[in-house]
Amino acid sequence: MPDDRTRTANPAAALVASLTAEQKAALTTGGSFWRTADLSEAGIPSIMVSDGPHGLRKQNVGGDHLGVLEGSPATCFPPATAMASTWDPRLVAQVGGAIAREAKAAQVSVVLGPGVNIKRSVRCGRNFEYFSEDPLLSAHLGAAWVRGVQAEGIGASLKHFAANNQETERLRISAEIDERTLHETYLKAFRHIVATEKPRTVMCAYNAINGVFAAENRWLLTEVLREHWGFEGLVVSDWGAVHDRVEAIHAGLDLEMPSTSGRTAAEVVASLAAGVLSPDELDTAAERVVNLVLRGIAELDDEATYDPALHHELARDVAAAAIVLLKNDADVLPLAPTARIAVIGELARTPRFQGSGSSLIVPTQLDDALSSITGRIAPDAVRFAPGYRLDNVDEAGLAADAVAAASGAEVALVFLGLPPQDESEGYDREHIELPAVQVELLEQLIETGTRLVVVLSNGSAVRVSGWVDRVDGLIEGWLLGQGGGEAIARVLFGEANPSGRLAETIPMRIQDTPDYLDFPGDELTVKYSEGVFVGYRWYDAREIGVSFPFGFGLSYTAFEYSDASAEVQGDVLQVRLQLTNTGASDGAETVQVYTGLRESAIRRPLRELRGFAKVHVAAGETVPVTIDIPLSELDHYSAAEHGWRREGGSYTVSVGSSSRDIHAEIEVDIAGVGDRAPLTIDSTVGEWLAHPSVSDLVRGTIEKLGFEPDSYRFRMAQQMPMRGAVAFTEGQLTLEGLVQLAADANRSTLG
Ligand code: GLC
Repeated sequence: MPDDRTRTANPAAALVASLTAEQKAALTTGGSFWRTADLSEAGIPSIMVSDGPHGLRKQNVGGDHLGVLEGSPATCFPPATAMASTWDPRLVAQVGGAIAREAKAAQVSVVLGPGVNIKRSVRCGRNFEYFSEDPLLSAHLGAAWVRGVQAEGIGASLKHFAANNQETERLRISAEIDERTLHETYLKAFRHIVATEKPRTVMCAYNAINGVFAAENRWLLTEVLREHWGFEGLVVSDWGAVHDRVEAIHAGLDLEMPSTSGRTAAEVVASLAAGVLSPDELDTAAERVVNLVLRGIAELDDEATYDPALHHELARDVAAAAIVLLKNDADVLPLAPTARIAVIGELARTPRFQGSGSSLIVPTQLDDALSSITGRIAPDAVRFAPGYRLDNVDEAGLAADAVAAASGAEVALVFLGLPPQDESEGYDREHIELPAVQVELLEQLIETGTRLVVVLSNGSAVRVSGWVDRVDGLIEGWLLGQGGGEAIARVLFGEANPSGRLAETIPMRIQDTPDYLDFPGDELTVKYSEGVFVGYRWYDAREIGVSFPFGFGLSYTAFEYSDASAEVQGDVLQVRLQLTNTGASDGAETVQVYTGLRESAIRRPLRELRGFAKVHVAAGETVPVTIDIPLSELDHYSAAEHGWRREGGSYTVSVGSSSRDIHAEIEVDIAGVGDRAPLTIDSTVGEWLAHPSVSDLVRGTIEKLGFEPDSYRFRMAQQMPMRGAVAFTEGQLTLEGLVQLAADANRSTLG
């Protein structure tokens, strides 16, 4: 806690020192729905915060956190689910920068994003707002967004800390997660971004983690976030997430949002007077608020503007880079400008371009695929049929009209997806099916024999296994923002070569998914019994077939991987290869590097994403690719030792174009770091056998006792703690001798 001298050197501390308890308490709670408290009389004006994360949702009048009231028009970029499919941190940072410029022009100081919660369940209604099932991809893309925003002088708010992986009962549910899974999966992106980008704020989640609400969770907000990770910014609550304001300050929650009209400030003052809350705790929270305000004020610029047309073009470019081509039989795509086509589906005319809830943006303009497509070909070469209604009501005649349109075409583009009411913040999906009216329509279109290209609009995976083998092309468009319609047309006509890659697995059945039996929990508790085996980690470990694997995506060209190598250089695992574009069109490939450790002492996924690079290669060209992976990426979290460990061994480094399309595997010896638990007499015979300093002695003793190595009796013995096994050594080993042996062995390895 800073002492008085430190305080005077720090303007925020000096300002806080001049405040009354009532003023300090007022500071630590919102002054309105979107603004901090206004203490201009004390030299502390208020600043405004607004949602994100894929555009600025600034509400000038009133405010709500559910997207009920509209915000001012702003560029609606592709939501995280699509941005993630670009696998391009550079592009994501550009989006962050653009949103920040719009915030600056709107006098907003903090944009509430990015959302980096892991896509644990495909059914989570808010998956559209999150990046991936993989923590590394979420970490790198979330970091890029923060980097882009904060480079423009606007603050980010890394959310929702932590384990907000479902919408069902999100304000009351407790996520029951073991310590290793928490650190390796659900905290990883937050830890990475706090360390590398220093977000100005972190937003705590609504839910509880292992029975303690995030807002009042001192282990999470102070021990982990500040003491272990070194976070120095401000912790803000999700809107309405605080249950006990005093407890929350104890826990390390600095700013409660939104305003509670003085109620909780009064509680804070009373707890101060009662000695329940220490003056230092309140001063610390107030100082962090003042620091945030002073930084925001310093960046305000009345002259700030932005170019909506430029941002719209960026939205289109990012959308085009997000589109994932999943199937392209007989090169049905790209379309020839002279083709006779049918455009089928209301979603072609009425695009679903974002999710619902607090991130809902009023776009500055909106491209629809139908207009963008018809603008590219002769009027008599295209016919549109809505085919279905977005309210999923089965209206007679729509399907017949669509079948007629398809029957007269060379190719039918069938736009399907989830209408707005089917997935949203605030509630989860109950299944992963497309609306029945759409599937029924598709079955009828398949009957026509016309070549079909399905284009999907959805925030998280839908089941395609029922029909994907009977269509010719499939594009996963996710939710593409206001420029998505034009972007789809660019890809369909080959003006843009699709380069999106899946950031989440597309399962064949909901029953195959990792959370199938746990989600969404019972009696306000949801167990994460799959542990670290989230997403592809699960399907790989269980050898479950999937419709399309994590990391997958096709191109209009083809790539060849050659000369792959991997070696340790200092504290980096360096992977190098040659990448050749063997096709006739320029394109971009995302090279992915996974590692696994087959002979591991702990349960591990078969392979885990450790690095990636999106590489643009001209037709016929070969480029060298180097991917440097910090060795710390290979660490696992030991719950027994409450810390990160690196297990020594021969790691399998897999270089691939998806988690299941591996082009090279290289074995690399990696030295362990602090991975050997100290040997004790309670360590098992097996652990003693595995310890280089004493294994020969132990093995020799066992063999003298007549236990044939690798016999079942030998295997049985290995599970015994040495304390008990010593009795069977007929005096050859004693407890006292073992204690000394262990001490010697530990000195030799732990140093
Ligand atoms: C919402 C969301 C959060 C948003 C906040 C303000 O409930 O959970 O992401 O930033 O409230 O709208």
